[in-house]
Amino acid sequence: MTHMLREIAQPGSGETLDPQDWDDVRVLGHRMLDDMIDHIATVRERPVWQPIPDAVRAQFREQLPREANELADVYRTFTDFIAPYATGNLHPGFMGWVHGGGSAVGMLAEMLAAGLNANLGGRDHIPIEVERQVVDWVRQMFSFPAEASGLFVTGTSMANLMAVLVARTCALGKPARRHGIGGQGARLTAYTSKAAHGCITKAMDIAGFGSDALRCVAIDESHRIDIAALREQIARDRAIGLKPFLVVASAGTVDIGAIDDLWSVAALCREEKLWFHVDGAFGALGILAPELAPRLVGIELADSIAFDFHKWGQVPYDAGFLLVRDGERHKNAFAAPAAYLRRETRGLAAGSEWPCDLGVDLSRGFRALKTWFTLKTYGTDKLGAIVAHSCALASYLEARVRAEPRLELLAPVNLNIVCFRYRAADADRVNREIVVNLQESGIAAPSTTVLDGELAIRCAIVNHRTDACDIDALVAAVLEFGARRTASPGQLAVTEAVAVVV
Ligand SMILES: Cc1ncc(COP(=O)(O)O)c(C=O)c1O
Repeated sequence: MTHMLREIAQPGSGETLDPQDWDDVRVLGHRMLDDMIDHIATVRERPVWQPIPDAVRAQFREQLPREANELADVYRTFTDFIAPYATGNLHPGFMGWVHGGGSAVGMLAEMLAAGLNANLGGRDHIPIEVERQVVDWVRQMFSFPAEASGLFVTGTSMANLMAVLVARTCALGKPARRHGIGGQGARLTAYTSKAAHGCITKAMDIAGFGSDALRCVAIDESHRIDIAALREQIARDRAIGLKPFLVVASAGTVDIGAIDDLWSVAALCREEKLWFHVDGAFGALGILAPELAPRLVGIELADSIAFDFHKWGQVPYDAGFLLVRDGERHKNAFAAPAAYLRRETRGLAAGSEWPCDLGVDLSRGFRALKTWFTLKTYGTDKLGAIVAHSCALASYLEARVRAEPRLELLAPVNLNIVCFRYRAADADRVNREIVVNLQESGIAAPSTTVLDGELAIRCAIVNHRTDACDIDALVAAVLEFGARRTASPGQLAVTEAVAVVV
Protein backbone atom coordinates (compact mmCIF):
# COMPACT_ATOMS: atom_id res chain seq x y z
CA MET A 1 0.00 0.00 0.00
CA THR A 2 1.25 3.47 -0.84
CA HIS A 3 1.45 6.04 1.94
CA MET A 4 -1.64 7.82 0.64
CA LEU A 5 -3.77 4.68 0.47
CA ARG A 6 -2.63 3.68 3.98
CA GLU A 7 -3.66 7.11 5.27
CA ILE A 8 -7.10 6.89 3.63
CA ALA A 9 -7.61 3.42 5.08
CA GLN A 10 -7.28 4.81 8.65
CA PRO A 11 -10.77 5.32 10.20
CA GLY A 12 -11.60 9.02 10.64
CA SER A 13 -8.60 10.20 8.70
CA GLY A 14 -10.47 11.47 5.62
CA GLU A 15 -11.29 15.00 4.63
CA THR A 16 -14.73 16.06 5.78
CA LEU A 17 -16.63 19.28 6.30
CA ASP A 18 -18.11 18.02 9.57
CA PRO A 19 -16.80 19.82 12.67
CA GLN A 20 -14.22 18.36 15.04
CA ASP A 21 -16.54 19.24 17.88
CA TRP A 22 -20.28 19.17 17.19
CA ASP A 23 -20.96 21.05 20.41
CA ASP A 24 -19.28 24.18 19.00
CA VAL A 25 -21.66 24.12 16.04
CA ARG A 26 -24.58 23.42 18.34
CA VAL A 27 -23.85 26.44 20.54
CA LEU A 28 -23.36 28.77 17.59
CA GLY A 29 -26.36 27.28 15.79
CA HIS A 30 -28.60 27.96 18.79
CA ARG A 31 -27.34 31.53 18.88
CA MET A 32 -28.07 31.98 15.18
CA LEU A 33 -31.57 30.68 15.71
CA ASP A 34 -32.16 32.96 18.70
CA ASP A 35 -30.76 35.94 16.80
CA MET A 36 -32.94 35.28 13.77
CA ILE A 37 -36.08 34.82 15.85
CA ASP A 38 -35.24 38.14 17.57
CA HIS A 39 -34.61 39.69 14.16
CA ILE A 40 -38.13 38.82 13.05
CA ALA A 41 -39.77 39.57 16.41
CA THR A 42 -38.26 43.06 16.60
CA VAL A 43 -38.70 43.98 12.96
CA ARG A 44 -40.86 47.01 13.77
CA GLU A 45 -38.00 48.60 15.72
CA ARG A 46 -35.88 48.87 12.58
CA PRO A 47 -36.21 50.82 9.34
CA VAL A 48 -38.01 49.00 6.54
CA TRP A 49 -34.92 49.32 4.37
CA GLN A 50 -31.73 51.32 4.52
CA PRO A 51 -29.26 52.41 1.87
CA ILE A 52 -26.08 50.31 1.78
CA PRO A 53 -22.97 52.26 2.82
CA ASP A 54 -19.98 51.85 0.48
CA ALA A 55 -17.99 50.22 3.29
CA VAL A 56 -20.64 47.54 3.65
CA ARG A 57 -20.81 46.88 -0.10
CA ALA A 58 -17.01 46.61 -0.09
CA GLN A 59 -17.28 43.63 2.29
CA PHE A 60 -18.53 41.65 -0.69
CA ARG A 61 -15.78 42.50 -3.13
CA GLU A 62 -13.22 40.14 -1.58
CA GLN A 63 -10.92 37.68 -3.31
CA LEU A 64 -11.92 34.01 -3.41
CA PRO A 65 -11.33 32.65 0.12
CA ARG A 66 -8.83 29.83 -0.26
CA GLU A 67 -8.14 29.54 3.46
CA ALA A 68 -10.67 28.57 6.10
CA ASN A 69 -12.33 31.14 8.37
CA GLU A 70 -13.88 30.62 11.77
CA LEU A 71 -17.64 30.06 11.47
CA ALA A 72 -18.19 32.61 14.26
CA ASP A 73 -16.33 35.26 12.22
CA VAL A 74 -18.28 34.45 9.07
CA TYR A 75 -21.47 34.69 11.11
CA ARG A 76 -20.40 38.09 12.45
CA THR A 77 -20.14 39.33 8.86
CA PHE A 78 -23.71 38.14 8.39
CA THR A 79 -25.05 39.90 11.49
CA ASP A 80 -23.14 43.13 10.82
CA PHE A 81 -23.29 43.45 7.07
CA ILE A 82 -25.98 41.21 5.61
CA ALA A 83 -28.96 41.07 7.96
CA PRO A 84 -29.33 44.87 8.38
CA TYR A 85 -29.26 45.50 4.62
CA ALA A 86 -31.78 42.98 3.30
CA THR A 87 -34.74 43.86 1.06
CA GLY A 88 -36.99 44.75 3.98
CA ASN A 89 -39.99 42.62 3.05
CA LEU A 90 -40.11 41.16 6.57
CA HIS A 91 -41.21 44.62 7.67
CA PRO A 92 -44.88 45.65 7.82
CA GLY A 93 -43.98 48.91 6.07
CA PHE A 94 -42.81 47.09 2.96
CA MET A 95 -45.38 47.62 0.22
CA GLY A 96 -43.27 47.59 -2.93
CA TRP A 97 -43.65 45.24 -5.89
CA VAL A 98 -45.46 42.10 -4.57
CA HIS A 99 -43.36 40.63 -1.76
CA GLY A 100 -44.53 38.21 0.90
CA GLY A 101 -43.49 38.67 4.52
CA GLY A 102 -42.40 35.10 5.31
CA SER A 103 -42.89 33.67 8.79
CA ALA A 104 -40.92 32.14 11.63
CA VAL A 105 -42.60 28.81 10.86
CA GLY A 106 -41.40 28.96 7.26
CA MET A 107 -37.92 29.89 8.41
CA LEU A 108 -37.70 26.93 10.78
CA ALA A 109 -38.97 24.58 8.10
CA GLU A 110 -36.35 25.91 5.68
CA MET A 111 -33.66 25.11 8.24
CA LEU A 112 -35.01 21.58 8.62
CA ALA A 113 -35.12 21.16 4.83
CA ALA A 114 -31.50 22.29 4.55
CA GLY A 115 -30.59 19.80 7.27
CA LEU A 116 -32.11 16.93 5.28
CA ASN A 117 -30.52 18.24 2.08
CA ALA A 118 -33.03 16.27 0.05
CA ASN A 119 -33.02 16.36 -3.73
CA LEU A 120 -36.59 16.35 -5.01
CA GLY A 121 -35.83 15.69 -8.66
CA GLY A 122 -36.98 12.12 -8.09
CA ARG A 123 -36.46 8.76 -6.36
CA ASP A 124 -38.49 7.14 -3.60
CA HIS A 125 -38.30 9.13 -0.37
CA ILE A 126 -40.73 10.90 1.89
CA PRO A 127 -39.83 14.48 0.89
CA ILE A 128 -41.33 13.66 -2.55
CA GLU A 129 -44.49 12.45 -0.79
CA VAL A 130 -44.62 15.76 1.08
CA GLU A 131 -44.50 17.60 -2.27
CA ARG A 132 -47.21 15.28 -3.63
CA GLN A 133 -49.29 16.07 -0.55
CA VAL A 134 -49.02 19.80 -1.25
CA VAL A 135 -49.82 19.19 -4.93
CA ASP A 136 -52.96 17.40 -3.82
CA TRP A 137 -53.89 20.25 -1.47
CA VAL A 138 -53.43 22.74 -4.29
CA ARG A 139 -55.57 20.53 -6.51
CA GLN A 140 -58.29 20.66 -3.83
CA MET A 141 -57.97 24.44 -3.43
CA PHE A 142 -58.74 24.97 -7.11
CA SER A 143 -61.20 22.07 -7.48
CA PHE A 144 -59.02 20.39 -10.09
CA PRO A 145 -59.59 16.73 -11.05
CA ALA A 146 -57.66 13.80 -9.60
CA GLU A 147 -55.47 13.49 -12.73
CA ALA A 148 -54.09 17.00 -12.28
CA SER A 149 -50.39 17.37 -11.61
CA GLY A 150 -48.20 20.09 -10.25
CA LEU A 151 -44.86 20.98 -8.79
CA PHE A 152 -42.87 23.66 -7.05
CA VAL A 153 -40.70 25.95 -9.14
CA THR A 154 -38.78 29.13 -8.39
CA GLY A 155 -41.62 31.55 -9.05
CA THR A 156 -44.52 32.46 -11.29
CA SER A 157 -42.21 33.62 -14.09
CA MET A 158 -40.93 30.05 -14.37
CA ALA A 159 -44.38 28.54 -13.86
CA ASN A 160 -45.80 30.71 -16.67
CA LEU A 161 -42.95 29.70 -18.97
CA MET A 162 -43.58 26.03 -18.21
CA ALA A 163 -47.29 26.45 -18.89
CA VAL A 164 -46.47 27.96 -22.30
CA LEU A 165 -44.25 24.93 -22.97
CA VAL A 166 -47.00 22.49 -21.96
CA ALA A 167 -49.48 24.32 -24.21
CA ARG A 168 -46.88 24.29 -27.01
CA THR A 169 -46.42 20.51 -26.86
CA CYS A 170 -50.15 20.07 -26.66
CA ALA A 171 -50.65 22.19 -29.80
CA LEU A 172 -47.80 20.73 -31.86
CA GLY A 173 -47.63 17.19 -30.52
CA LYS A 174 -44.67 15.47 -28.88
CA PRO A 175 -42.57 15.25 -32.09
CA ALA A 176 -42.11 19.02 -31.89
CA ARG A 177 -39.85 18.36 -28.91
CA ARG A 178 -37.43 16.68 -31.32
CA HIS A 179 -37.90 18.81 -34.41
CA GLY A 180 -38.48 22.21 -32.85
CA ILE A 181 -41.54 24.34 -33.45
CA GLY A 182 -40.99 24.43 -37.26
CA GLY A 183 -43.38 26.02 -39.75
CA GLN A 184 -46.49 24.96 -37.83
CA GLY A 185 -45.15 26.50 -34.64
CA ALA A 186 -44.29 29.72 -36.41
CA ARG A 187 -48.00 30.23 -37.01
CA LEU A 188 -49.07 29.70 -33.38
CA THR A 189 -50.32 32.77 -31.59
CA ALA A 190 -51.08 33.38 -27.91
CA TYR A 191 -53.25 35.99 -26.21
CA THR A 192 -53.11 37.94 -23.01
CA SER A 193 -54.08 41.44 -21.93
CA LYS A 194 -52.09 44.64 -22.08
CA ALA A 195 -52.05 44.56 -18.28
CA ALA A 196 -50.38 41.12 -18.10
CA HIS A 197 -47.00 40.65 -16.46
CA GLY A 198 -43.92 40.96 -18.68
CA CYS A 199 -42.87 37.39 -17.94
CA ILE A 200 -45.57 36.17 -20.37
CA THR A 201 -43.84 38.01 -23.21
CA LYS A 202 -40.53 36.59 -22.05
CA ALA A 203 -42.01 33.09 -21.95
CA MET A 204 -43.17 33.39 -25.58
CA ASP A 205 -39.70 34.53 -26.55
CA ILE A 206 -37.95 31.70 -24.67
CA ALA A 207 -40.42 29.10 -25.98
CA GLY A 208 -39.29 29.94 -29.52
CA PHE A 209 -42.41 31.70 -30.77
CA GLY A 210 -41.01 35.21 -30.47
CA SER A 211 -42.75 37.88 -28.46
CA ASP A 212 -44.62 39.15 -31.55
CA ALA A 213 -46.64 35.93 -31.45
CA LEU A 214 -48.21 37.21 -28.22
CA ARG A 215 -51.21 39.44 -28.82
CA CYS A 216 -51.67 41.88 -25.95
CA VAL A 217 -55.38 42.59 -26.07
CA ALA A 218 -57.08 45.81 -24.89
CA ILE A 219 -58.36 46.13 -21.33
CA ASP A 220 -61.51 47.73 -19.96
CA GLU A 221 -61.61 50.58 -17.43
CA SER A 222 -61.07 48.07 -14.60
CA HIS A 223 -57.96 46.69 -16.35
CA ARG A 224 -59.67 43.38 -17.21
CA ILE A 225 -59.13 41.80 -20.59
CA ASP A 226 -61.72 43.00 -23.11
CA ILE A 227 -63.42 39.73 -24.03
CA ALA A 228 -64.96 41.11 -27.25
CA ALA A 229 -61.56 42.43 -28.36
CA LEU A 230 -60.01 39.05 -27.53
CA ARG A 231 -62.61 37.24 -29.59
CA GLU A 232 -62.09 39.63 -32.52
CA GLN A 233 -58.30 39.30 -32.42
CA ILE A 234 -58.56 35.50 -32.46
CA ALA A 235 -60.92 35.66 -35.47
CA ARG A 236 -58.65 38.11 -37.29
CA ASP A 237 -55.65 35.87 -36.74
CA ARG A 238 -57.48 32.74 -37.88
CA ALA A 239 -58.60 34.61 -41.01
CA ILE A 240 -54.98 35.19 -42.04
CA GLY A 241 -53.96 31.59 -41.45
CA LEU A 242 -52.49 31.89 -37.96
CA LYS A 243 -53.18 29.24 -35.33
CA PRO A 244 -54.31 30.58 -31.95
CA PHE A 245 -53.34 28.07 -29.23
CA LEU A 246 -53.22 29.76 -25.84
CA VAL A 247 -54.88 32.45 -23.72
CA VAL A 248 -53.20 33.67 -20.54
CA ALA A 249 -55.66 35.36 -18.21
CA SER A 250 -54.57 37.29 -15.12
CA ALA A 251 -55.90 36.69 -11.64
CA GLY A 252 -54.45 39.85 -10.14
CA THR A 253 -52.64 42.06 -12.64
CA VAL A 254 -49.28 43.26 -11.51
CA ASP A 255 -50.08 46.98 -11.65
CA ILE A 256 -53.47 47.15 -9.97
CA GLY A 257 -54.58 43.62 -9.08
CA ALA A 258 -57.36 43.33 -11.67
CA ILE A 259 -58.90 39.89 -12.12
CA ASP A 260 -59.91 39.00 -15.67
CA ASP A 261 -63.37 37.57 -16.21
CA LEU A 262 -62.06 34.03 -15.89
CA TRP A 263 -65.42 32.44 -16.51
CA SER A 264 -65.82 34.18 -19.89
CA VAL A 265 -62.21 33.48 -20.87
CA ALA A 266 -62.77 29.81 -20.01
CA ALA A 267 -65.90 29.70 -22.17
CA LEU A 268 -64.13 31.36 -25.08
CA CYS A 269 -61.18 28.96 -24.80
CA ARG A 270 -63.52 25.98 -24.78
CA GLU A 271 -65.32 27.31 -27.85
CA GLU A 272 -62.09 28.06 -29.70
CA LYS A 273 -60.22 24.98 -28.41
CA LEU A 274 -57.44 27.02 -26.84
CA TRP A 275 -55.28 26.28 -23.82
CA PHE A 276 -56.56 28.38 -20.90
CA HIS A 277 -53.77 29.37 -18.54
CA VAL A 278 -54.17 31.62 -15.49
CA ASP A 279 -51.33 33.78 -14.20
CA GLY A 280 -52.42 34.01 -10.60
CA ALA A 281 -49.02 35.00 -9.19
CA PHE A 282 -50.53 36.55 -6.09
CA GLY A 283 -54.28 36.74 -6.80
CA ALA A 284 -54.88 33.00 -7.15
CA LEU A 285 -54.51 32.52 -3.39
CA GLY A 286 -57.54 34.79 -3.03
CA ILE A 287 -59.31 31.44 -3.41
CA LEU A 288 -58.60 30.92 0.32
CA ALA A 289 -60.64 33.97 1.34
CA PRO A 290 -64.42 33.42 1.17
CA GLU A 291 -64.87 37.15 0.41
CA LEU A 292 -62.63 36.94 -2.67
CA ALA A 293 -63.14 33.42 -4.00
CA PRO A 294 -66.31 34.34 -5.95
CA ARG A 295 -64.27 36.81 -7.97
CA LEU A 296 -62.07 33.97 -9.17
CA VAL A 297 -64.92 31.93 -10.55
CA GLY A 298 -63.75 30.19 -13.69
CA ILE A 299 -60.24 29.51 -12.36
CA GLU A 300 -61.36 25.93 -11.69
CA LEU A 301 -61.80 25.54 -15.47
CA ALA A 302 -58.23 26.48 -16.32
CA ASP A 303 -55.90 24.08 -18.09
CA SER A 304 -53.10 25.38 -15.90
CA ILE A 305 -52.53 27.87 -13.08
CA ALA A 306 -49.28 29.55 -12.05
CA PHE A 307 -48.94 31.20 -8.65
CA ASP A 308 -46.58 31.81 -5.77
CA PHE A 309 -46.73 30.65 -2.19
CA HIS A 310 -44.00 33.21 -1.46
CA LYS A 311 -46.37 36.14 -2.02
CA TRP A 312 -49.77 35.98 -0.29
CA GLY A 313 -49.00 32.49 1.01
CA GLN A 314 -46.27 34.04 3.24
CA VAL A 315 -43.91 31.11 2.61
CA PRO A 316 -40.27 32.26 2.55
CA TYR A 317 -38.71 32.67 -0.89
CA ASP A 318 -38.85 30.91 -3.17
CA ALA A 319 -41.99 28.83 -3.64
CA GLY A 320 -43.60 29.21 -7.06
CA PHE A 321 -46.09 26.62 -8.23
CA LEU A 322 -47.53 25.25 -11.47
CA LEU A 323 -50.76 23.24 -11.49
CA VAL A 324 -51.84 21.45 -14.69
CA ARG A 325 -55.31 19.96 -15.18
CA ASP A 326 -54.17 17.02 -17.29
CA GLY A 327 -51.12 15.35 -15.76
CA GLU A 328 -50.43 13.37 -18.92
CA ARG A 329 -50.16 16.50 -21.04
CA HIS A 330 -47.94 18.04 -18.39
CA LYS A 331 -45.60 15.05 -18.50
CA ASN A 332 -45.60 15.00 -22.32
CA ALA A 333 -43.96 18.41 -22.31
CA PHE A 334 -41.03 17.54 -20.05
CA ALA A 335 -40.42 13.83 -19.44
CA ALA A 336 -37.13 12.73 -21.02
CA PRO A 337 -36.01 9.18 -20.21
CA ALA A 338 -32.32 8.62 -19.54
CA ALA A 339 -30.42 5.48 -18.58
CA TYR A 340 -29.04 7.11 -15.45
CA LEU A 341 -32.60 8.01 -14.36
CA ARG A 342 -34.02 4.52 -14.88
CA ARG A 343 -37.06 3.72 -12.75
CA GLU A 344 -37.47 0.52 -10.74
CA THR A 345 -40.43 -0.98 -8.95
CA ARG A 346 -38.46 -1.37 -5.70
CA GLY A 347 -35.53 0.35 -4.06
CA LEU A 348 -34.60 4.01 -4.12
CA ALA A 349 -35.22 4.36 -7.87
CA ALA A 350 -38.91 3.41 -7.46
CA GLY A 351 -41.81 5.82 -7.11
CA SER A 352 -42.14 7.02 -10.71
CA GLU A 353 -43.34 9.50 -11.81
CA TRP A 354 -40.75 11.89 -10.55
CA PRO A 355 -40.93 15.68 -10.41
CA CYS A 356 -38.12 15.89 -12.99
CA ASP A 357 -40.66 14.43 -15.46
CA LEU A 358 -42.82 17.50 -14.96
CA GLY A 359 -40.39 20.35 -15.32
CA VAL A 360 -37.04 21.70 -16.34
CA ASP A 361 -35.06 20.99 -13.19
CA LEU A 362 -33.49 17.68 -12.31
CA SER A 363 -31.98 18.76 -9.00
CA ARG A 364 -34.65 20.40 -6.89
CA GLY A 365 -34.71 21.56 -3.27
CA PHE A 366 -37.35 20.80 -0.67
CA ARG A 367 -39.54 23.90 -1.23
CA ALA A 368 -42.50 21.73 -0.36
CA LEU A 369 -41.47 21.44 3.31
CA LYS A 370 -41.76 25.14 4.21
CA THR A 371 -45.08 25.25 2.34
CA TRP A 372 -46.36 22.08 4.03
CA PHE A 373 -45.37 23.49 7.45
CA THR A 374 -47.07 26.80 6.66
CA LEU A 375 -50.31 25.19 5.46
CA LYS A 376 -50.41 22.66 8.32
CA THR A 377 -49.46 25.09 11.06
CA TYR A 378 -51.71 27.98 10.16
CA GLY A 379 -54.43 26.24 8.16
CA THR A 380 -55.88 27.70 5.00
CA ASP A 381 -58.67 29.57 6.85
CA LYS A 382 -56.09 31.70 8.64
CA LEU A 383 -54.09 32.28 5.45
CA GLY A 384 -57.32 33.29 3.72
CA ALA A 385 -58.09 35.71 6.56
CA ILE A 386 -54.66 37.31 6.01
CA VAL A 387 -55.39 37.70 2.31
CA ALA A 388 -58.73 39.33 3.15
CA HIS A 389 -57.06 41.59 5.75
CA SER A 390 -54.57 42.86 3.13
CA CYS A 391 -57.50 43.79 0.90
CA ALA A 392 -59.26 45.53 3.79
CA LEU A 393 -56.09 47.54 4.43
CA ALA A 394 -55.96 48.46 0.73
CA SER A 395 -59.55 49.74 1.03
CA TYR A 396 -58.52 51.71 4.10
CA LEU A 397 -55.62 53.27 2.19
CA GLU A 398 -57.98 54.02 -0.70
CA ALA A 399 -60.33 55.81 1.73
CA ARG A 400 -57.43 57.80 3.20
CA VAL A 401 -56.35 58.86 -0.31
CA ARG A 402 -59.89 59.81 -1.33
CA ALA A 403 -60.31 61.88 1.84
CA GLU A 404 -57.09 63.82 1.34
CA PRO A 405 -57.28 66.65 -1.23
CA ARG A 406 -53.51 66.62 -1.72
CA LEU A 407 -53.65 63.00 -2.91
CA GLU A 408 -55.19 61.49 -6.02
CA LEU A 409 -56.20 57.89 -6.67
CA LEU A 410 -54.90 56.70 -10.06
CA ALA A 411 -56.63 53.35 -10.45
CA PRO A 412 -59.53 51.40 -8.99
CA VAL A 413 -58.59 49.27 -5.98
CA ASN A 414 -59.42 45.68 -6.90
CA LEU A 415 -57.59 43.64 -4.33
CA ASN A 416 -54.54 44.61 -2.30
CA ILE A 417 -52.89 47.20 -4.57
CA VAL A 418 -53.39 50.96 -4.31
CA CYS A 419 -51.97 53.32 -6.94
CA PHE A 420 -52.10 57.00 -6.08
CA ARG A 421 -50.05 60.14 -6.12
CA TYR A 422 -49.38 63.47 -4.53
CA ARG A 423 -50.90 66.26 -6.59
CA ALA A 424 -48.21 68.54 -7.96
CA ALA A 425 -47.36 70.51 -11.10
CA ASP A 426 -44.43 68.23 -11.95
CA ALA A 427 -46.17 65.19 -10.51
CA ASP A 428 -44.03 62.43 -12.07
CA ARG A 429 -40.80 63.88 -10.73
CA VAL A 430 -42.28 64.78 -7.34
CA ASN A 431 -43.82 61.34 -6.80
CA ARG A 432 -40.69 59.50 -7.93
CA GLU A 433 -38.75 61.52 -5.36
CA ILE A 434 -41.39 60.91 -2.68
CA VAL A 435 -41.00 57.14 -3.17
CA VAL A 436 -37.21 57.33 -2.91
CA ASN A 437 -37.57 59.52 0.20
CA LEU A 438 -39.99 57.04 1.75
CA GLN A 439 -37.64 54.14 1.11
CA GLU A 440 -34.58 56.00 2.38
CA SER A 441 -36.44 57.24 5.47
CA GLY A 442 -37.10 53.63 6.46
CA ILE A 443 -40.76 54.47 7.16
CA ALA A 444 -42.29 52.61 4.23
CA ALA A 445 -41.19 51.00 0.98
CA PRO A 446 -43.75 51.29 -1.81
CA SER A 447 -42.66 51.07 -5.45
CA THR A 448 -43.78 52.95 -8.57
CA THR A 449 -45.54 52.13 -11.79
CA VAL A 450 -46.84 54.10 -14.74
CA LEU A 451 -50.60 54.18 -15.43
CA ASP A 452 -51.88 55.97 -18.52
CA GLY A 453 -48.55 57.74 -18.76
CA GLU A 454 -48.65 58.97 -15.15
CA LEU A 455 -46.22 57.85 -12.50
CA ALA A 456 -48.01 56.29 -9.54
CA ILE A 457 -46.96 55.44 -6.01
CA ARG A 458 -47.87 51.76 -5.94
CA CYS A 459 -48.58 50.05 -2.62
CA ALA A 460 -49.08 46.29 -2.75
CA ILE A 461 -50.16 45.15 0.70
CA VAL A 462 -49.06 41.55 1.02
CA ASN A 463 -47.26 41.25 4.34
CA HIS A 464 -49.29 39.65 7.16
CA ARG A 465 -47.63 42.04 9.65
CA THR A 466 -48.94 45.18 7.96
CA ASP A 467 -51.65 46.98 9.89
CA ALA A 468 -53.64 50.23 9.80
CA CYS A 469 -50.87 52.07 11.71
CA ASP A 470 -48.48 51.28 8.83
CA ILE A 471 -50.93 52.75 6.35
CA ASP A 472 -51.27 55.87 8.52
CA ALA A 473 -47.48 56.20 8.75
CA LEU A 474 -47.22 55.87 4.96
CA VAL A 475 -49.86 58.53 4.28
CA ALA A 476 -48.34 60.94 6.80
CA ALA A 477 -44.89 60.47 5.26
CA VAL A 478 -46.18 60.93 1.69
CA LEU A 479 -47.83 64.20 2.72
CA GLU A 480 -44.72 65.35 4.54
CA PHE A 481 -42.31 64.51 1.71
CA GLY A 482 -44.78 65.82 -0.85
CA ALA A 483 -45.00 69.16 0.97
CA ARG A 484 -41.22 69.37 1.11
CA ARG A 485 -40.82 68.46 -2.57
CA THR A 486 -43.31 71.11 -3.69
CA ALA A 487 -42.40 73.84 -1.19
CA SER A 488 -40.59 76.98 -2.27
CA PRO A 489 -37.10 77.38 -0.68
CA GLY A 490 -38.51 79.79 1.95
CA GLN A 491 -41.38 77.50 2.88
CA LEU A 492 -38.97 74.55 2.97
CA ALA A 493 -36.84 76.23 5.62
CA VAL A 494 -39.97 76.74 7.77
CA THR A 495 -41.15 73.13 7.20
CA GLU A 496 -37.74 71.75 8.15
CA ALA A 497 -37.53 73.96 11.24
CA VAL A 498 -40.97 72.69 12.28
CA ALA A 499 -39.88 69.12 11.59
CA VAL A 500 -36.81 69.60 13.82
CA VAL A 501 -38.92 71.08 16.65
CA VAL A 502 -41.42 68.21 16.34
C1 LIG B 1 -49.16 38.98 -12.13
C2 LIG B 1 -47.74 38.51 -11.95
N1 LIG B 1 -47.26 37.55 -12.75
C3 LIG B 1 -46.01 37.09 -12.63
C4 LIG B 1 -45.16 37.57 -11.67
C5 LIG B 1 -43.77 37.03 -11.56
O1 LIG B 1 -43.68 36.24 -10.41
P1 LIG B 1 -42.26 35.82 -9.80
O2 LIG B 1 -41.66 37.11 -9.33
O3 LIG B 1 -42.57 34.89 -8.68
O4 LIG B 1 -41.48 35.19 -10.88
C6 LIG B 1 -45.61 38.59 -10.81
C7 LIG B 1 -44.73 39.17 -9.80
O5 LIG B 1 -45.08 40.01 -9.03
C8 LIG B 1 -46.93 39.06 -10.95
O6 LIG B 1 -47.42 40.03 -10.16
